[in-house]
Amino acid sequence: MGVRYTLWVAVAVSWLCIQAQVLHSQKSLVCNSSDSEALQDLMSNFASALQGWGPNASDNCCNWVGVKCESSSSLGGSDGSSGSGRVVELVLASKKLAGNLPDSLGKLDQLRLLNLSHNLIEGTLPESLLHLPKLQVLDLSYNEFSGPLPASVDLPLLRVFNISENSFSGSLPVWICTNSTGIQVLNLAVNYFSDVIKLGLGNCGSLQNLSLATNSLTGGISEDIFTLGQLVQLSLQENSFSGLLGSGIGNLTALIRLDISTNGFSGPIPDVFQNMKKLQYFIGQTNGFTGSIPPSLSNSPSLTFLNLRNNSLTGTIVLNCSALSSLVSLDLGSNSFNGPFPEDLPNCQKLQSVKLARNKFTTPIPQSFKNFSSLVHLSTSNSSLSNVASALEILQHCENLTVLLLTGITSTKNYEVKRV
Ligand SMILES: *[C@@H]1O[C@H](CO)[C@@H](O)[C@H](O)[C@H]1NC(C)=O
Ligand SMILES: *[C@@H]1O[C@H](CO)[C@@H](O)[C@H](O)[C@H]1NC(C)=O
Ligand SMILES: *[C@@H]1O[C@H](CO)[C@@H](O)[C@H](O)[C@H]1NC(C)=O
Ligand SMILES: *[C@@H]1O[C@H](CO)[C@@H](O)[C@H](O)[C@H]1NC(C)=O
Ligand SMILES: *[C@@H]1O[C@H](CO)[C@@H](O)[C@H](O)[C@H]1NC(C)=O
Ligand SMILES: *[C@@H]1O[C@H](CO)[C@@H](O)[C@H](O)[C@H]1NC(C)=O
Ligand SMILES: *[C@@H]1O[C@H](CO)[C@@H](O)[C@H](O)[C@H]1NC(C)=O
Ligand SMILES: *[C@@H]1O[C@H](CO)[C@@H](O)[C@H](O)[C@H]1NC(C)=O
Ligand SMILES: *[C@@H]1O[C@H](CO)[C@@H](O)[C@H](O)[C@H]1NC(C)=O
Ligand SMILES: *[C@@H]1O[C@H](CO)[C@@H](O)[C@H](O)[C@H]1NC(C)=O
Ligand SMILES: *[C@@H]1O[C@H](CO)[C@@H](O)[C@H](O)[C@H]1NC(C)=O
Ligand SMILES: *[C@@H]1O[C@H](CO)[C@@H](O)[C@H](O)[C@H]1NC(C)=O
Repeated sequence: MGVRYTLWVAVAVSWLCIQAQVLHSQKSLVCNSSDSEALQDLMSNFASALQGWGPNASDNCCNWVGVKCESSSSLGGSDGSSGSGRVVELVLASKKLAGNLPDSLGKLDQLRLLNLSHNLIEGTLPESLLHLPKLQVLDLSYNEFSGPLPASVDLPLLRVFNISENSFSGSLPVWICTNSTGIQVLNLAVNYFSDVIKLGLGNCGSLQNLSLATNSLTGGISEDIFTLGQLVQLSLQENSFSGLLGSGIGNLTALIRLDISTNGFSGPIPDVFQNMKKLQYFIGQTNGFTGSIPPSLSNSPSLTFLNLRNNSLTGTIVLNCSALSSLVSLDLGSNSFNGPFPEDLPNCQKLQSVKLARNKFTTPIPQSFKNFSSLVHLSTSNSSLSNVASALEILQHCENLTVLLLTGITSTKNYEVKRV
C-alpha cells in the first residue's frame, strides 16, 4: 500500500513537472524592465509611430515587432525568475524611421544583432552602442548618420559591421580593430571618410570582406592591409588613392575580388599575382597605370574578369590564352597600346567579351578571329587600321557574336554594327 501510494505520487509529480515545462515553453518571456525602458526610449526618439510598438502594443516588449528575446537564465542571467526575457535581436529595417539613436540603447547588454538599415536615422552614433559586450552583427547601412565614429569602440564579439551609405566623416575608424579583432565583414563604403588610412586594420586578422569604396581616402593602401591573409574581397574603388600599387597586394592569396578602380594609382601594375590563385575579378579601370600587363596577371588561370580600361598602358598586349583558361571578360579600352592587334585571343576558350576601343594597334583584326567561336561582344572602335569590309569578312565566322562596335574604323566613316 505504502509502496503503491509512493509510486502514484511520483507519477503525479512527474506529470505535473512535464505540464509545467510545456506551459512554460508556450508562455512567452516577459521583457526585462531595463530592456523595456531602452526600447521605449528608442521609440520616443523616432518622429513617427512604429507599428506593433507603442501604447496599444503589449506591455511586454518581447512581443513587439522586430524584437527577439531569450530567457535570462539561458543567457546566464542571475535575476531569478525563469520567465524573464532579454532582448537579443532587434531588426527594424526599412521602417521609415527618422530621428536619432539614444544613448540608452547601451542598456541592451544582451543584444547580438541590430539591424536598422534602410531608414532615415540621423545624427552621430551614441558611444554606448559601440560598447555592447554581446553584439555580433551591426547593420546601420542606408541611413543618414553623420559625424566621426566615437573614438572608443569595444565590441569584442563583433563579426559584421556595415555602416555603408551614410554621411559619416572624419578619418577612417581603423581603431575599431583594436578591440573587435574578430570582424569578418567591414563595410564603410559610400560615406565621407577622408585622409590617409592610418595603421590599425591589420589587427582585424579575420577580415574577409573589406569595403572602403566611394569615400575621399588619399595616399596609398596602408601596408597592414596586405597582412590580411583571409581577405576574399577588397573594394577600394572611387577614392583618391595615389602612388604605386604596393607589391604587398600579392600577399593577399585568398583574394577573389579586387576593385581599385577610379582612383589615382600610377606607375606599373606590380608583377605579383602568381600566388593569388583564387583571384577572379581584377577591376583597375580609370587610374594612371603605365607600362604593360604584368606576366603574372596575363598568365592567371583563375582570372575571369579583367578591366584595365582608361589607363595609360602601352606596348604590345601580351596575354597567354593557354593559361587564361577562365577569362570571360576583357576590357583594355582607352589605353595607349600600340603593338599589333592581339592575335592569340581566340585561344582564350571562355572569352566572350573583348573591349579594345581607343587604342592604337598597328595591324587590322587578324585572320585568327575567324575561329573565335566563344566571342559574343567585340568593340574595337577607334583602335585599328582595318577597313570594315575585311573586318566583317573575318567576323562573320564568329557564330556567337551578337554585339560588334566598329565606330571610327576608318577616317571618313563611322560604323556601328549590332546583330541581335
Ligand atoms: C534586467 O536586466 C538587468 C541588466 O542585466 C539586470 O540587472 C536586472 O536584474 C534585470 N531585471 C529583471 C527584472 O529581470
Ligand atoms: C489604440 O487603439 C484604439 C482602439 O482600438 C484606437 O482608437 C487608437 O487609435 C489606437 N492608438 C494607436 C496609437 O494606435
Ligand atoms: C538587414 O535587413 C535588410 C533588410 O531586410 C537586409 O537586406 C540585410 O541583409 C540585413 N542585414 C543583415 C546583416 O542581416
Ligand atoms: C578598447 O576597449 C577598452 C575597454 O572598453 C576601452 O577603454 C578602449 O577605449 C577601447 N579601445 C579603442 C581603441 O576603442
Ligand atoms: C550589410 O553588410 C552585411 C555583410 O556583408 C550584409 O549581410 C548585409 O546585407 C548588408 N546590409 C544591407 C542592407 O545590404
Ligand atoms: C564577400 O566577398 C565574396 C567574394 O566577392 C562574396 O562572394 C561574398 O558574398 C561576400 N560576403 C559578404 C558577407 O559580403
Ligand atoms: C609579404 O609576404 C612576404 C613573405 O611572407 C613578406 O616578406 C613581406 O613582408 C610581406 N609584405 C607585406 C607588405 O606585408
Ligand atoms: C578616364 O580617366 C580620367 C582620369 O584618368 C578621368 O578624368 C575620366 O573621367 C575617365 N573617363 C571615363 C569614361 O571613365
Ligand atoms: C603559357 O601558359 C602555358 C600554360 O600555363 C605555359 O605552359 C606556358 O609556358 C606559358 N607561356 C608563356 C610564354 O608564358
Ligand atoms: C582555326 O582552328 C583550326 C583548328 O584548330 C586551325 O587548323 C586553323 O588554322 C585555325 N584558323 C585560323 C584562321 O586561325
Ligand atoms: C555559343 O553560344 C551557345 C549558346 O549560348 C553556347 O551553348 C555555346 O557554348 C557557345 N559557343 C562557344 C564556343 O562558347
Ligand atoms: C573616335 O575618334 C573620333 C575622332 O577622334 C571621335 O570623334 C569619336 O568620338 C571616337 N569614337 C569613339 C567611340 O571613341
